Amino acid sequence: MITVESGSVLVVLSGLPGVGKTTLARELARSLGAPHVRVDAFETALGLRATSARDGDPTGYRLAHVVAGDALQSGRHAVVDAVNPVREARDGWRALASEVGVPLLEVDVVCSDPELHERRVRERTADLPGQVVPTWEGVTGRPAWRRDADEPAAVVVDTATTALARAVVELRARVDAHPEQVAVPASLLAPHHRFGAWAVRGEPEVVLETERLVLRRWREADLEPFAAMNADPEVMEHFSSGPMDRAASDGLARYADACFEVHGFGLAAVERTDDGAFLGFCGFGRHRRRPEAVEVGWRLARHAWGHGYATEAGRAWLEAAPGIGLERVACYVTATNRRSLAVARRLGLVVEEEDVWAGQPVVVLSTRP
Ligand SMILES: CC(C)(COP(=O)(O)OP(=O)(O)OC[C@H]1O[C@@H](n2cnc3c(N)ncnc32)[C@H](O)[C@@H]1OP(=O)(O)O)[C@@H](O)C(=O)NCCC(=O)NCCS
Repeated sequence: MITVESGSVLVVLSGLPGVGKTTLARELARSLGAPHVRVDAFETALGLRATSARDGDPTGYRLAHVVAGDALQSGRHAVVDAVNPVREARDGWRALASEVGVPLLEVDVVCSDPELHERRVRERTADLPGQVVPTWEGVTGRPAWRRDADEPAAVVVDTATTALARAVVELRARVDAHPEQVAVPASLLAPHHRFGAWAVRGEPEVVLETERLVLRRWREADLEPFAAMNADPEVMEHFSSGPMDRAASDGLARYADACFEVHGFGLAAVERTDDGAFLGFCGFGRHRRRPEAVEVGWRLARHAWGHGYATEAGRAWLEAAPGIGLERVACYVTATNRRSLAVARRLGLVVEEEDVWAGQPVVVLSTRP
């Protein structure tokens, strides 16, 4: 097995012709600086029919594997765009990701509006030399596209209801995040609610304000102190992944901020009002193991401990929770993380259960009695 250490991610977009895969893949690849590995381009160049994979000729897919594998091994992400109509095709990408040692982000692209889908297929013109574009009859004559029950769940993008730019931001946030975030099976693209007005002081980037702190959206200038904090072994003592490198830290910051676009809440940057110092983050996110739950989280630079800042920021978030429709907020803390447990208790969270994750005892607390 060849292992890549670079944090590359294999992104695979699957779905029927005409759902908008290629447009999305092209934009996502551009945003990530990754090659757009388009299986129908290989099939067209080889003179194969668009249905060749379904008919048992995987040559186009084999070539795409080589190109995607090559990009991943040179430390880049790869964005694959393929119908992936049969189980073998989908399993092939899983095997490639595991062979190269990178996380796989599977995305099912659908168009829930049949009229729109039909119009897209009928209006589509060839954009590759020699390409034969599928007809609507050809698309509807195919077996329904679906995953088998035992296949991993994918993120679903419905191009009938999701703007292209938003889908790119959301998928990019997945890719940019620490690789562990990539594998979260629930759809980030589910309908969500938003805070009507985030602005507290009339500044759109301010999320909440407390006596001593401003909780706000992220800025480029935060990345450096954030990376220093995430590289500190004392700050990262209770995370099994250990201290983070700069790329992972920048990815986490982008993810934290993108959450606001996706969910309407996120992990806000914490700034001290007095001197504008960046202290860390505090806010709401979705837990990677329990994406149905909203979790409150905090992480502050070592110099900011011992002042009550985490409790102050966490309290502001919990007070805001009912206003954004959150009935229950959970908190997952490693049982040995005494300081974090103390914050949770000061905030009135109650222990719901004790569990063991990845060999570590974990305490689950929540706002619900
Ligand atoms: C978890 C973490 C945010 C807690 O920070 P913290 O400073 O201990 O927590 P608070 O901000 O609530 O501060 C409480 C401390 O400040 C003191 N304090 C000083 N002035 C205070 C004030 N005005 N109000 C309240 N407390 C004050 C309290 O007495 C308490 O001190 P103590 O811990 O010595 O008893 C911090 O340890 C951290 O970032 N850890 C690494 C990341 C992490 O583990 N995150 C949690 C993952 S689940």
